[in-house]
Amino acid sequence: MYKMIVGNWKMNGTSADLEEFFDFANDWLNPMFDLMICPPATLIGRMTGTSVMIGAQDCHADVKGAHTGDISAEMLADAGATHVIVGHSERRTDHAETNAMVAAKTNAAWNAEMKVILCIGETEAQYRAGETLDVLRTQMAESIPDGAMKTNITIAYEPVWAIGTGLTPTLQEIADVHAFIRETLVARFGDAGAAMPLLYGGSVKASNARDIFVLPNVNGGLVGGASLRKADFTPICSAL
Ligand code: G3H
Repeated sequence: MYKMIVGNWKMNGTSADLEEFFDFANDWLNPMFDLMICPPATLIGRMTGTSVMIGAQDCHADVKGAHTGDISAEMLADAGATHVIVGHSERRTDHAETNAMVAAKTNAAWNAEMKVILCIGETEAQYRAGETLDVLRTQMAESIPDGAMKTNITIAYEPVWAIGTGLTPTLQEIADVHAFIRETLVARFGDAGAAMPLLYGGSVKASNARDIFVLPNVNGGLVGGASLRKADFTPICSAL
């Protein structure tokens, strides 16, 4: 089964962190799986050239124009990023990103020949109300564009309430939700949906990584806080 681990540095990382990154990359000269770091855009150009792939954390839906502070997919690709995260819950919350915007960003990334890691996930209130599957069904229907296939998209399931909290769903819940995501993708995309990689994200750490990564329909993890330090991230990568 295809395997991948993505470290999302979020708004963390400066030049001071590069030495530790290259030291980490040196330990993974030939990983047996796709290993990626998504640093802040400011560092992308300085982190390419190792066997650790470099992704971006967001892109604008337009190719260019009057959008102060924004960065297009084409610019991120030009800087050396091969992938871009879209629809992260922090973007959906902090920047009011809708499913339609996530779909537009995905198409923009594809037009720039980048691959997308598209995040979906329910809030704590939705989880408690038993709405998880309905929320995910809608997010997938509205934010994944036609044309999605394993070579251009990875779906990351991140329960919002598990992000940065130390909380995780039970292993059974993760397995059940991933089975639902797979079923939904297959219903819409057929064989292409069966092959799309699915990542779990939300408080992945060394102590739970192995148990999560062996679950059916879990192709790896999207790791936030624990990707920032080599000492935390290395055991997670070793668990895949
Ligand atoms: O993109 C990563 C996720 O938001 C997970 O973050 O590992 O700090 O919970 P976390």
